[in-house]
Amino acid sequence: MQNIDLIEKINKLKKEKNAIILAHCYQNIEVDEVADYVGDSLYLSRVATNNDAKIIIFAGVYFMAETAKILSPNKKVILPRIEAGCLMADMITADKLKEFKAKYPNLPVVCYINSTAGVKAESDICCTSANAVKVLESLDSDKVLFVPDKGLGSYIDSKIEDKQVICYEGFCPIHWEVTSKEVEEKKNKYPDALTLVHPESCPEVIKLADFVGSTTAIMKYAKESNNKQFIIVTEKGVVDRLQRDYPKKEFIWVSEKAYCENMKKIKLEDILKSLETEQPEINVDEYVARKAFNCIDRMLSID
Ligand code: 13P
Ligand code: SF4
Repeated sequence: MQNIDLIEKINKLKKEKNAIILAHCYQNIEVDEVADYVGDSLYLSRVATNNDAKIIIFAGVYFMAETAKILSPNKKVILPRIEAGCLMADMITADKLKEFKAKYPNLPVVCYINSTAGVKAESDICCTSANAVKVLESLDSDKVLFVPDKGLGSYIDSKIEDKQVICYEGFCPIHWEVTSKEVEEKKNKYPDALTLVHPESCPEVIKLADFVGSTTAIMKYAKESNNKQFIIVTEKGVVDRLQRDYPKKEFIWVSEKAYCENMKKIKLEDILKSLETEQPEINVDEYVARKAFNCIDRMLSID
């Protein structure tokens, strides 16, 4: 089927079924044609709580759909490709977190939203890359455990003077494996470009940044800057959207490593099928969901 026919069918079914489509900005760009909301993890979590739809189709990865279900238990939440996981979220389980906590007793635990419901249920408060510094600053403790991302955790540690951030050894390979050599090569090739970096990157890459921020913050910075060229150190979906939205500027993708296969699994065909069948549905164990809700809600109420 042509994209135009798929889009028409999806839009018709969305209306009939009172469904909305939320899309992360790392998704295939054609998903934006049918999405009601496109943005980063924090924005999409907020949207999941504040709307009257009966069905949420989540064009993203598993932990995002799970978070939407925890925040909106009475809505049907659907992830069109159930196998779209997150390599970083899978690096820690609730049991591994319990072991980590046992090594550092009585410290507050902050978990990155890129984690499973089970890990959220074992954490005190959640954060995203957009509000991590604010969340950590809200805690009344000079030492904090941070899971699972050592990239974001060490970045926050460098930003907050009066707290020590003890990081778990997880990371996002899509960001972490981009090297400072690759960034330097691009900087040499495009000396007028500003380098915009996602905080999941490694510290050597972060050192080379003109700006560090979440996906939305990077997009806002590129929009508002008078500069014409930018090296984008995050996932390709951000580069594609920036180039579409600001065609007079040039956006240089740092490396082919910054491509998340899981984020690219969902195609328009999958969205149509999931609207027709209302499957695959995401469900979360009630006890885990209640505990995980507190962790996410605490973040949303301070931010
Ligand atoms: P943000 O949407 O918070 O920028 O996170 C990036 C990411 O890796 C999502 O999977
Ligand atoms: Fe997970 Fe990294 Fe992919 Fe985001 S980009 S979904 S953190 S593996």
